[in-house]
Amino acid sequence: DGPKPLAGRTAIVTSGPTHEPIDPVRYIANRSSGRQGHAIAAALAALGAEVTLVSGPVTIPDPAGVTTVHVERAEEMRDVVISRLPVDIAVMVAAVADWRVASSSGQKIKKQPGEAPPPLLLTENPDILKTVGHHENRPALVVGFAAETQSVEENGRAKLERKGADMIVANDVSPETGIMGGSRNRVKIISRDGVADWPDLPKDAVAERLAALIAETLGAKIGA
Ligand code: C5P
Repeated sequence: DGPKPLAGRTAIVTSGPTHEPIDPVRYIANRSSGRQGHAIAAALAALGAEVTLVSGPVTIPDPAGVTTVHVERAEEMRDVVISRLPVDIAVMVAAVADWRVASSSGQKIKKQPGEAPPPLLLTENPDILKTVGHHENRPALVVGFAAETQSVEENGRAKLERKGADMIVANDVSPETGIMGGSRNRVKIISRDGVADWPDLPKDAVAERLAALIAETLGAKIGA
């Protein structure tokens, strides 16, 4: 077989949730296993790309053939991602917490008998995909995800524009789909060319198809 289609290309993939501390023992987070993001990192590496995976806290192993950097918080994830630019490909799969606690406590907040629970004041986290999509060192191909529970295509298309992405992988994560935490995924690929509806597939197969599509799109864009 010939040269791998992504040989000589560099990629950053984010995966997993972020944990935003309330105090040293408590945090807020999104639900995310990291399965889809890790599989995409491995699939890009299998096509020859040099891949950095920036992973939030997950229980699955680091994929082989990929440089994995572990982070906890969204701001850390953003800093690592930006420090790796320029790259050819960015695939932002992480379920980044939209908010963090405005001033997290350095000490464990004590539960005081008879006292009201402490209020949590939240502040907005950086949007990593949007930052990358509008960066002066913007990768040639920027791919985002859209986990929605309704109006999947419409929301995905709006996200494509707002975040400055070339492609949005949109899926319906309503609890009855079993996608979150599960091993299968059913996605729509939204780009400026239109929408492709992929069948229900194992997450590894979605990753392989997406890596192949990325290689093809990048080749058409900047020459193979
Ligand atoms: O806006 P929403 O969170 O639905 O967008 C999802 C996409 O944006 C995903 O690709 C996700 O990784 C990325 N994202 C990000 N930083 C955030 C929020 C979302 O990179 N703070």
